[in-house]
Amino acid sequence: MVQLKLTDEATNRDDMRDGFCCDRNNPHSCCHREEDSRSHHSNLHKSSDWKLADDPSCNPEHPLKVTFEEITSAAYRIKPGIVNTPCTRSHMSGLTGMDIYLKKDFLQNTGSFKERGARYAMLMLSQERRQKGVIAASLGNHAQAVCYHGHLLKIPVTVVMPIIAPIMKIQKCKEFNANVIMEGKDMAEARKIAIKLAKEKGFTYINGYDHPQIIAGQGTIALEILEQVQDIDAIVVPTGGGGLLAGVAVAVKTLNPEIKIIGVESERCASFTMAMKSERPVSTPIEGTLADGLAVPMVGYNAWETAKSLVDKMVVVKEEWIAVAILRMVELEKCVVEGAGAVGLAAILAGQLDEFKGKRVVLILSGGNIDTTILGRCLERGLAADGRLVKCKVTVSDRPGGISELCKIISSIGVSIKDVIHERAWVTSDVFSVEVKVVCETRDYTHSLELRDLLMNRYKKVKFDNLPENLAVSSTNEN
Ligand SMILES: Cc1ncc(COP(=O)(O)O)c(C=O)c1O
Repeated sequence: MVQLKLTDEATNRDDMRDGFCCDRNNPHSCCHREEDSRSHHSNLHKSSDWKLADDPSCNPEHPLKVTFEEITSAAYRIKPGIVNTPCTRSHMSGLTGMDIYLKKDFLQNTGSFKERGARYAMLMLSQERRQKGVIAASLGNHAQAVCYHGHLLKIPVTVVMPIIAPIMKIQKCKEFNANVIMEGKDMAEARKIAIKLAKEKGFTYINGYDHPQIIAGQGTIALEILEQVQDIDAIVVPTGGGGLLAGVAVAVKTLNPEIKIIGVESERCASFTMAMKSERPVSTPIEGTLADGLAVPMVGYNAWETAKSLVDKMVVVKEEWIAVAILRMVELEKCVVEGAGAVGLAAILAGQLDEFKGKRVVLILSGGNIDTTILGRCLERGLAADGRLVKCKVTVSDRPGGISELCKIISSIGVSIKDVIHERAWVTSDVFSVEVKVVCETRDYTHSLELRDLLMNRYKKVKFDNLPENLAVSSTNEN
């Protein structure tokens, strides 16, 4: 049933591994029993200073399957503190040929679904554990969720955020009076620091995607979706460490096994797809991605164990489609969604889910926390990927009026110039020419092609960066 789209080999780096340790028969006890778990798993991964056994919520050798009952229990407990977010029909149904519904969980207080699991895990702490406090390592959304619900539940919170975490997410955590430690170059390092601190200070470490209660909490989103939308054919789930995917898959397949569960990752951090390929969690090299919330090098063991047999398909999307999806969300839905939250739409726009044309598909818009500057860049990239922001180099006459004529020609078809740079020193053809680099905004791709043809008919040397060359156009012109 599972379709894989990537063929790259995963690399296996022990130092990047993520792991947990749990009482298999009693998931709710797992975060209260570090000492037992540690000794139980003391033989694991001896060589690494980041010992897997130090995260008490998981045991890679005995991973846990989260059950439907835990998800319903989580739903009941977190209900008063979580927003039942709308799941509404998308304006993009016509555009995509699918009956799309959007579960808008970016409307949670801290802008992501992560509050569900965070609240549940904290509600399940013993009084003693609550007093000592919790610690999490996160690139942002889990950290914000833990900080916010810790604040509401009066539980002291420490979060370790890698230095690459988005500024906006760091700032938000500070606003909830949490102890924010910015350390570690990536999640692996941040987690190592958090686990060490948990040990030293007696905090409870809450893994953001693999703690069984986190997975159960994330699954509650599916219970809401199934109440909000009838006759669903597929649910598309952004996937990082796999906690959301696992929780959703259990809830949905228990209630209606006919509904397809589709996980989506960025091509830059396809760790669940790699796990599917290797039939176990493996460490996967990750690169900078617009979907920063999904940048997890290895899926969680509990998440994997829970989700592996329930996921129908994994899709890996290209970065440019994520940018286009963010743009479409802003333009057509008036929703600001971060890259991680937009991957589902990206997969549809890229034609990777065409088998659902004419079907009813729910996209989980899992988060909306995006820095304004990054949003600006995403929108520009989206416009460029869409062929609506084009860049060209045109060599024109350096006599008076040469550049102004170029600008007039461009504006004659309603194209707007965003930027112009001209240079003389490096033009090799003749001293009476100048090379002009122009960035233009057009209505759509066809409009861009019209611009290209117009310029190629008028000038000899024209080069567009992001449009194909039009060989049919004659270039018998003067410049
Ligand atoms: C906005 C957003 N969407 C999706 C995910 C993926 O969730 P998981 O790590 O449980 O797979 C994350 C994880 O942080 C996220 O922040």
